Amino acid sequence: NSSEKSIDEKLKEICELLKESIRYYDWVGFYFKNGDKNELKLGPYAGAPTDHTIIPFGKGICGQVAESNENFVVPDVQAQDNYIACSITVKAEIVIPLFKNGENIGQIDIDSNTPNPFSEEDERFLEYVNEKVSQIL
Ligand code: SME
Repeated sequence: NSSEKSIDEKLKEICELLKESIRYYDWVGFYFKNGDKNELKLGPYAGAPTDHTIIPFGKGICGQVAESNENFVVPDVQAQDNYIACSITVKAEIVIPLFKNGENIGQIDIDSNTPNPFSEEDERFLEYVNEKVSQIL
């Protein structure tokens, strides 16, 4: 049905809603495993365009989460040596893996221009968002 929104349109709306609703969410995007390659590909996002549309597994915060299957909360990005800077205004980042049928298929990535803004509440909330997202994939 062509009048229904595509998955990418829905994911983009989720990104925009999160960015507009939560003051310290300044860039919100989804990365997904790129086919059978050991890399992530940028999906829908809200915020400034990024050059990092492909991220090899293991590289940066995102690439590390692709391998660890665990949440990664970064209160201060400058203190990380394996970090890929997207914008000089970013102070903190949170990446939560997205599972479908128990498999890590991607992640939600949020950048903040506020130092140390993320709490366990963000982790639980974003885990919930990812659970809901996995149901529409
Ligand atoms: N900072 C991320 C790269 C993606 S941008 O934040 C959009 C990282 O270190 O993996």
